[in-house]
Amino acid sequence: MAIQWYPGHMNAARKKAAETMENTDLVIEVVDARLPAASCNPMVEELRLFRQRPCLKILNKIDLADPAATAAWVAHFDAMDGVTAYAMTTKKPGDVARIPELAKSLAPHRGVPTKPLRIMIMGIPNVGKSTLMNALLKKRVAKVGDEPAVTKIQQKLYLDKNTILVDTPGMLWPKIALPSDGLMLAASHAIGSNALIEEEVAVFLAEELLKRYPDLLAARYGTKVGEVDAIGVVEGIAARRGFRIKGGDYDFEKASHTLLLDYRSGVLGRISLETPDTRAALLVQHAAEMAEKAEKAAAAAAEKAKNAARGKRGT
Ligand code: G4P
Repeated sequence: MAIQWYPGHMNAARKKAAETMENTDLVIEVVDARLPAASCNPMVEELRLFRQRPCLKILNKIDLADPAATAAWVAHFDAMDGVTAYAMTTKKPGDVARIPELAKSLAPHRGVPTKPLRIMIMGIPNVGKSTLMNALLKKRVAKVGDEPAVTKIQQKLYLDKNTILVDTPGMLWPKIALPSDGLMLAASHAIGSNALIEEEVAVFLAEELLKRYPDLLAARYGTKVGEVDAIGVVEGIAARRGFRIKGGDYDFEKASHTLLLDYRSGVLGRISLETPDTRAALLVQHAAEMAEKAEKAAAAAAEKAKNAARGKRGT
């Protein structure tokens, strides 16, 4: 997928975040509960571990995620060194209200007038950082929007007189290790996409839904599960909604957009695009593919060297 997804300002944000980390007691990393690993930023982990700061990992938007998958992710992250996971939605004031207490318990040596607790909020765009800040501070302090990377300027705000919140611009890492991460992020609108890519993303999403949530497809679109592939799912949406282009063909673009909007808004149901198990399997598969690629490259290089040597002998 041709996505321009590491603009210059994100590079600058990384530099600033590394500086701020030095004077931070606790990192709050916000991820999307529907894709908690794909929406993690490895840079956050790297910067945090370098300074040995504890992390409150917030799995936000659980109102949209599959509760069973979310429970598995919380257990997974809780087992990591220095990490405490908290699944929540900014839609519930009660969920937000628990954060200050949780934060204080993770850095008990801070949070007094002489040593205020300094919290850094990090995460990739569109996971809900600005919404969370607004809810925590009970006022509108940062621009909230559905377009990725709206938060651009770093801010420092007082949660109470002994707690400081530092916001950082939404960051994405410079390289997506797994192609499916890019597709998951695009499906969830963490990265923007043009119409062409939307169709590719919608087909990816349909494939995942056929595998893991076929009942939701059948319930909303009357999908004949077992009889259609991913493209058929999108075409089925076009047929059912009467989306046609001039000449009578299905309007694939409009149907793709509908599927993505229904997933993003939650009307399709509570869906998680990955679980700790699917993630582990994906990583194993990716490592095997990389090893095979390296093996083939080595064999090709050896063959080339052999041919070159033969050529030399022949002349
Ligand atoms: P960011 O700073 O990390 O970039 O994210 P931001 O707060 O701008 O939130 C991105 C979108 O996610 C916003 O939607 C926001 O409302 C939504 N959002 C944040 N938290 C939650 C949550 O817990 N559940 C759900 N369902 N959505 C959440 P938006 O499209 O701008 O629209 P709207 O919802 O404000 O109308």
